Amino acid sequence: MTVQTRGRGSMRGVSLWFVATGSVFVTLGMLGGIAMAVSSDHTLAPAHAHLNLVGWVTMALFGIYYHLVPAAADTRLARVHYTIATAGVLAMVPGIILAALERDELLVAVGSLLTLGSMLIFVFTVFRHRA
Ligand code: HEM
Repeated sequence: MTVQTRGRGSMRGVSLWFVATGSVFVTLGMLGGIAMAVSSDHTLAPAHAHLNLVGWVTMALFGIYYHLVPAAADTRLARVHYTIATAGVLAMVPGIILAALERDELLVAVGSLLTLGSMLIFVFTVFRHRA
């Protein structure tokens, strides 16, 4: 009988990268949320929301998916996916801040397209690795 050891109590590779990076993003998002609450200035609430929902919830879901589907995680596309998803958050969240402050809209546009690209890679991956 083959004993499946992978996934029991540990996470590695792309799954770990997604969850670990997301946990850093949500920590920053919570600090931003506390700063907003303390200052009573909610101007940057959309940046906070996207850092938490795209940077944490979405990234963590990707990480859990790759943990559950190792065949999808052990691919170059999965590493490209991680890079594009992370770059998307790193561009989109500061981009939302700049847009909210009416300074610039290019960065948020780039971040949005990277984030969309990341989701398209995920859609492709889910269908490619269906049973
Ligand atoms: C320490 C933890 C957190 C604090 C102190 C915090 C604080 C805040 C504050 C002050 C606002 C603005 C509310 C308003 O303008 O009406 C807000 C909005 C929001 N937060 Fe958080 N938050 C926290 C964690 C989270 C997490 C973990 C998520 C999602 C996973 C989240 C998602 C949102 C969303 C979606 C909004 C609405 C944004 C908008 O109206 O544009 N927050 N939060």
